[in-house]
Amino acid sequence: MAKHHKKYKGILLAGGHGTRLYPVTKFSCKQLLPIYDKPLIYYALTLLLLAKIEEILIISTPTSLPVIEKVLGDGSQYGITLSYQVQAEPKGIAQAFLLAEEFLAGASCMMVLGDNIINKSDMSSFFKKAMQNNDGATIFGFPVRDPKRFGIVELDTDNKIVSVEEKPQNPKSNIAAIGLYLYDETVVEKAHRLTPTVRGELEITDLNNLYLQQNRLHCQTLSRGDFWVDAGTFDSMNDASNYIRLQQKYTNLAIGAPMEAAYSAGFITQEQMQKYT
Ligand code: TTP
Repeated sequence: MAKHHKKYKGILLAGGHGTRLYPVTKFSCKQLLPIYDKPLIYYALTLLLLAKIEEILIISTPTSLPVIEKVLGDGSQYGITLSYQVQAEPKGIAQAFLLAEEFLAGASCMMVLGDNIINKSDMSSFFKKAMQNNDGATIFGFPVRDPKRFGIVELDTDNKIVSVEEKPQNPKSNIAAIGLYLYDETVVEKAHRLTPTVRGELEITDLNNLYLQQNRLHCQTLSRGDFWVDAGTFDSMNDASNYIRLQQKYTNLAIGAPMEAAYSAGFITQEQMQKYT
């Protein structure tokens, strides 16, 4: 079996308005704000490395992109290739696939939002299985307290998706679709078929519904004990920092450490890892 998922490319979407973090995001890039002891974007990048993805496109705003590039560089320190693409205006999460058309060149992809933090055990094998089994698109679910704020997934007793609704007034479940997605090679063609909302955004939920119409949208719900947070508010940033601090302190294992993930993926040697950390 192939060691790396050659056919999957990665997209890390790290733009957006960041209005919930004003005034801090007026002068600073949200994804570079610290979550405990490292920049927020490290957590998303680490997920892609744990999925053994070797080509990653980072998309962000005209002001943030150069700063992110200064921090992460060309990816050679991780044994991978990082490339960069500007999103001139935040026209929605699904616009990423139009911007990434050339980069993807017909490949399947894993997309992660730059303010998402996930922690679970055996992440590499979890992703490996999800990527191998992906038929169409896979979204990942996590039970939340306030479903009206999220894209909500309704599942039947066989774990099949019945509906996905963006910020529903009357949520049909409490399972939120988190900011991590697997898409097959038809994603760009589907993204071209989307029409913008009144706010001028291409919605990821509309894209997912195109897969659902074909019966090719699947959901993997995270398990009990797994952790997910969208660190896009001061409150959730603080919660995430506390979680990471406690986990790292009591397990003695780093979370969101791209160098370590690159080593465990086999992209760099132990010497290379030690040289940079
Ligand atoms: P959101 O958290 O929905 O929006 P935001 O980051 O603009 O913040 P706020 O609601 O406080 O104004 O975005 C989720 C993620 O997707 C986040 O990492 C930013 C990213 N994003 C883009 O990169 N481009 C976009 O057009 C949008 C809408 C979001």
